[in-house]
Amino acid sequence: MSYHPDAIVPHGGELINRVASSAQREIFLSKADFLPRVELDERAVSDLEMIAIGGFSPLQGFMNQDDYNRVVTEMRLANGIVWSIPITLSVTEAVATPLEEGGLVRLDNSRGEFIGVLELTQKYTYDKQQEAINVYRTDDAKHPGVQVVYNQGSINLAGDIWLLQRDSHPHFPSYQIDPAASRQMFREKTWKTIVGFQTRNPIHRAHEYIQKCALETVDGLFLHPLVGATKEDDIAADVRMRCYEILLEHYYPVDRVILAINPAAMRYAGPREAIFHALVRKNYGCTHFIVGRDHAGVGDYYGTYDAQYIFDEFAPEELGIVPMKFEHAFYCQRTKQMATTKTSPSTPEERVHLSGTKVREMLRRGELPPPEFSRPEVAAELTRAMQISPV
Ligand code: ADX
Repeated sequence: MSYHPDAIVPHGGELINRVASSAQREIFLSKADFLPRVELDERAVSDLEMIAIGGFSPLQGFMNQDDYNRVVTEMRLANGIVWSIPITLSVTEAVATPLEEGGLVRLDNSRGEFIGVLELTQKYTYDKQQEAINVYRTDDAKHPGVQVVYNQGSINLAGDIWLLQRDSHPHFPSYQIDPAASRQMFREKTWKTIVGFQTRNPIHRAHEYIQKCALETVDGLFLHPLVGATKEDDIAADVRMRCYEILLEHYYPVDRVILAINPAAMRYAGPREAIFHALVRKNYGCTHFIVGRDHAGVGDYYGTYDAQYIFDEFAPEELGIVPMKFEHAFYCQRTKQMATTKTSPSTPEERVHLSGTKVREMLRRGELPPPEFSRPEVAAELTRAMQISPV
């Protein structure tokens, strides 16, 4: 595999662009009052945006039944291309019934704004429990991803989409960098190897450690926090973004890092989501992708390294992005540095490792996470944010 952004072809071969041109937009807007409407929830709005900007290439729309079934059962689209997460638009029967296959559907956000168009080709029912067990490896309704599936409508609407209007992310417009733009930035920086980093948590020292280990061997780091819908007790995206900014300012070689937002919603699907996260970063132009411990996991649903093992189920060229796998990192009190069991002679008692959940609990109690876990500037920012609006 040759490593050059131009050689990192988007998944499926072509970067999809389904953002309506101004001429198309005018035509769609002139029909606005005559089209049947479907209101999208936060996740569907994110999916619409991700499809349109090419983050979900080769998808051009919401999945039809053939793609959906094969993704759920085999982690492939109907044409055989690897894809691990269903991207569906689910509505209730009452919403679906009046919609005609072959027609256009107006897609609104929760404020009633006309943000997209669906070229409806198919309406189909699906088996929620089968989706839960295959994709999330559990049918426990307490799993946050499964919960979404169980609460959504029972009919999927399929078809290609067009994006008409996009919310600019109010707290971080300058970090709204689409796949075409990130690819261009990598080219301008003449980076040949770029590692992508997914996160939904405030950055801590284990994150920093694995990113920097990766940076020792690649040209650039694409720090790509997810800012779409997350579960309620996760820390808000704007707070996390401030933490990344603070950390970059104090502790990173800024010319080797690009910070950009990933507008996608979190699924908490562990292993399957790790594959999905990697493919999305390939579309942004990354050659490598970091997969640490319990990537995209929640609770005790997945084994610590299940999200790494799943990469072995595919041939490297089918994925087209190289996973960089890291063991559970901690602060080693014996060697006074971040480490994993691969590099530290410590006993378990000498290791400081805190989970995001534990840190959230500390912050709620008004305690500062220790410097072994979090850089002091980041801890201060988190404490400040929690005092203003506790999670
Ligand atoms: S995730 O849901 O986006 O995976 P999080 O933001 O906590 O959650 O993790 C981002 C990345 O860092 C993931 O690849 C995860 O596996 C990795 N990671 C988080 N904490 C550690 C740790 N202590 N050691 C090794 N990898 C970690």
